[in-house]
Amino acid sequence: MKKIIAFAGSISSNSINKQLAIYASGLVKDVKVKVLDLNNYEMPLYSVDRENASGQPQEAIDFVNEIRDADGIILSLAEYNGAYTGAFKNVFDWASRVEQKTFLGKPMLLMATSPGGRGGQSVLDMASDRFPRHDANIVGKFSLPSFHSNFSNGAISNDDLNNDLLEEVRQFEESL
Ligand SMILES: Cc1cc2nc3c(=O)[nH]c(=O)nc-3n(C[C@H](O)[C@H](O)[C@H](O)COP(=O)(O)O)c2cc1C
Repeated sequence: MKKIIAFAGSISSNSINKQLAIYASGLVKDVKVKVLDLNNYEMPLYSVDRENASGQPQEAIDFVNEIRDADGIILSLAEYNGAYTGAFKNVFDWASRVEQKTFLGKPMLLMATSPGGRGGQSVLDMASDRFPRHDANIVGKFSLPSFHSNFSNGAISNDDLNNDLLEEVRQFEESL
């Protein structure tokens, strides 16, 4: 059976992006899902000096190995001030030092959500532009606006938005 990883670009215990990533992963047929928690990859803020002095943290190596072991990636990015959260950016920076082709060509369903009407569109655009330079194979994209109006009891409550996500999930499934 194929194996996918699902995670959020957030370290919040009640992360809405983690809720969305878990929901989307449950829509993928016939796969084993491993949900990652970014809290398990907390590392010093990346700096060249730290890398020269101490090398790459085991957490960064472990993170890349999770990607290596997966057949596909579901990632939902939280948006802070129009960009990645610092927590995600730090993991991304360290991981890119371990493996420049960080996403290793694995099919990716890339998402974002926020309480606002743009649904994290800025960070989604940023990642859509950047991740392919790290060998991301983005096969589906989805932004869920106004999370608290459109998501309840672990699922998207708006039918149109849910159908949009289902379409992206099908494309992801087919590329695994
Ligand atoms: C410092 C900070 C900056 C934020 N900036 C944005 C933003 O630019 N756009 C947006 O839609 N929401 C913004 N938000 C709201 C987040 O989208 C919201 O906190 C969301 O729950 C974060 O996702 P998470 O729950 O998965 O961590 C911001 C929140 C914080 C704390």
